[in-house]
Formats: sequence, C-alpha cells, structure tokens
Amino acid sequence: MVNITVVGVGHVGLVSAAAFARWGHQVVGLDDDPAKVEKLRGGQAWFYEPGLQELLDEVVTGGRLQFTGDAKDALQDAEVVFVCVGTPPMPGGGPNLAFVEAVGRTVVEHASRDLVLVEKSTVPANTGRRLEQVIQRETSRLGNSHRIEVASNPEFLKEGAAVEDTLHPDRVVYGTSSDVSRDALRRVYAPLVEQDGCPVVETDVPTAELIKHASNAFLATRISFINAVAQICERVGADVAVVAEGMGHDVRIGPRFLQAGLGYGGSCFPKDVDAFAHLAKQVGYDFELLEQVARINVGQRDTVIGKLEHELWHLTDKTIAVLGAAFKPGTDDLRESPAIHLAQRLREAGAEVRIYDPVALPNVAIEHPELERHETIEGCLDGAHAAVVATDWDEIKRITPQQYLDKLAYPIVIDGRNVHDPDEMIAAGLRYHSMGRRSVDL
Ligand code: UDX
Repeated sequence: MVNITVVGVGHVGLVSAAAFARWGHQVVGLDDDPAKVEKLRGGQAWFYEPGLQELLDEVVTGGRLQFTGDAKDALQDAEVVFVCVGTPPMPGGGPNLAFVEAVGRTVVEHASRDLVLVEKSTVPANTGRRLEQVIQRETSRLGNSHRIEVASNPEFLKEGAAVEDTLHPDRVVYGTSSDVSRDALRRVYAPLVEQDGCPVVETDVPTAELIKHASNAFLATRISFINAVAQICERVGADVAVVAEGMGHDVRIGPRFLQAGLGYGGSCFPKDVDAFAHLAKQVGYDFELLEQVARINVGQRDTVIGKLEHELWHLTDKTIAVLGAAFKPGTDDLRESPAIHLAQRLREAGAEVRIYDPVALPNVAIEHPELERHETIEGCLDGAHAAVVATDWDEIKRITPQQYLDKLAYPIVIDGRNVHDPDEMIAAGLRYHSMGRRSVDL
C-alpha cells in the first residue's frame, strides 16, 4: 500500500485517484475548487464518465479515497504525489505551466517525509527539469530537509473510456531519475501489473515525457492523414471508409484512428499537437508536419461548410440542425469540439443554429448560451433547412432516412462523421453528402 496524493481532480486526476484506490492504495485528492471537493466528499463525480460513479461508490465509501482543499492535510503522509492540474494553452501555442510550478512549491512547503513528485499532466519534455529546479530553490529557501524527486508518468486515457483505460491500460510508462523513485512507481503499479500483466516501460524523465507527446501527435496525424485521403477520395470517386479498412488490415498500420470526418477535438489532441510543434521550435527543429496536421484538421470544418453552401447557396437566415455537441460520443466535454466550432462558423455565416446532444446540452447552456438547444432529434430537425451530423453518438447513427425526410424543410444531410449509409440515404431521396465517400451528384 502506498500513500498517494493526487493534486487536481479533473478528468485525469479523479479517474487516476479512483484507480489507485481500487488497487489498494490510500489516496487523497487535493483540489482548490471548493465546489468540486464538496461534491466529491459526498461521493459524487462532478463530470460524466462511464463507470466513474460506480468506482467512486466503491472507493469513497470504503474510505480509501478522500478529498480535501487543504494542501497541508493532503500532503502530510504522502509518499507519492501525482500532479494532475490543468495545462491550458497560451496564446503563443505553448501550454501554461504556472499551475504545475505552483504544485512544486506547495509540495516543498508541506512535505513531511521524502517523496516522489510525479507529473501526470501533459507537459512539454523538459518540465521535469524545470520542476527539479523549483524544488531545489524552494527546498533551500524553506530549509526543508526532505528529499523530493521528480518523475514522469504520462497517462493515455481517452475521455468516455477513461475508467476502462486507467484500470486496464495498454501500457504503463514512467520515467525516473533514481532507484528510489523507480521503486516507488513500481509499488504504485504492482497490483495492476500482477493482475493484468500490463506492459511497463521504465525509462528516464525526458523520454517518458516524449512518449506522451509522440503518441498523441501520431494519433492526431493518423486522423489528419485519413482526412486528407478523404479529400482525394471525393475527387476521384473512391470511398475513404473502404480505403481505411483496406489499409487497416495491414498489421503494420492497424484499423484504429483512421475514421475520416469533421476532425479531432477535445482537451488533448489540438493542444498537444500545438505544444509539440512549439517545443520542437524551441529546441531548434521545425516540425512542419505537425503544423499541417492541425491545418488539415481545421480545414475539415471548411469542407462541411462548402457542402452546405453547395446545397443552400448561402447560409444567411438558413436554419441548420447540428446533431451532436460533444467533441466525441460518450462524453459531455465541449472543449475544442469540432461540432461547436462548426456551429460558431455557421452563425458567423448568418445561419440560425440549433443543436442536439444526448448528454452535453447542460454544458452547451453554460458555455454557449447563444446556441438554440434541442433535447430531441425530432425537435432539432423540425423545419430546419439542413442537418449536419457533427458527433457520432449511437442515437444519431440510428436516425433513419425517413426521419430526416419527415422533419427537415429541405431534405439535405451533411454527414460530418460518416455514420449513415450513402446508398440508403441517396436512394431515399435525400441530398446526402458525407466525408470522402459517395455523395449525391457533387
Ligand atoms: C486522446 C488520446 O486518445 C488519449 O490517449 C490521450 O490521453 C488524451 O487524448 P481523447 O481526447 O479523450 O483522448 O479522445 P479520442 O478518443 O482520442 O478522440 C479525439 C478526437 O479525435 C475526437 O474528437 C474524435 O472524434 C476524433 N477522432 C478519433 C477522429 O476524428 N477519427 C478517429 O479515427 C478517431
């Protein structure tokens, strides 16, 4: 059993904390947002993630996971402290690491034994070195005699599958600078490795940081690659879904993350691609490929708008039903959601936008009150001049051609996620367009 403190109980921190507790460790979650702490103390998750509430019911009730807003309390017994605070993007492209630095200072102030400080937030390679510097300075300033070592343990969890990804990861990666910190992380992950036989990559701190950067940037690159291929497919009459299927059978390529559409969003890929390009520049390498990856991604929204304009001529005073608001199914997260970016672009072009989502509407109400919200698909489609599929929720996949025909004012569907069957939609009489597959006479 390891005494663990997790600083920041957001998507990564809370799910990680609950998983550590499930593996038998004693865990404290520290956060400076009193509303979150209050809710979590009552055993309630503050965001939606499949399986999270059940996991909290088990570990909070069992007393293995506690929450506090008081740093001194949270850190008094800590052997391993995970930093899971936000690293929001700054205007210049790099992430803002002020919160990470602040955690370093707080930990030195309150450490009451030797401990390992582990970065889990996605941070640029070299943050470990920076943190070490902060710790050294603060340690000599405050005269704290405890040894604090910095380690890196990137997470790879996907929203919507965060609990599953954390409890059964494809791999665990940690980078350490001594046997002490390596052994501490071995003890943290021992229950998982024993149960699941999960592969472990043990390395140094900068290499662990780079593994995270390279993994996310590579996945984003796959998505932009297939989206670029989709552009060509449209122009030569090929079907990108079948191209991806054919490519995916090659075991060197594999089938996943080759789904063409409106592009990637979320709190990680857009930020991480920019951050990696930014880091590369800082160290003297122009990683142009990543700039193209981001450019292709944003360009997918232009493609959808172009298809709408092709059908509707201009968008002023047209009502567009946007189906889906979350950046992907299985989450209520709107951060960098392609659906929301698209809705905003449509509004700028003069259209009236309505939006449907099975779980994210409360967040739309808070973050984008300007968008007209609909709790049913029928209500959203009713009388609209065109529909755009923006998130591939199952509810949206199940819409039939007849439902579109019955409700829409004009029978126009732009399928930004390739969820419907083109032959079926076109045969039913819809003006149907998708991304890189057969469309009605473009
Ligand atoms: C991602 C990484 O997968 C995860 O390992 C990392 O820790 C955090 O970032 P997440 O942002 O939760 O996770 O979402 P993910 O499932 O990876 O999807 C990201 C975006 O890419 C979504 O907007 C999704 O719709 C889009 N996507 C994904 C595609 O457009 N095509 C695909 O083939 C796959």
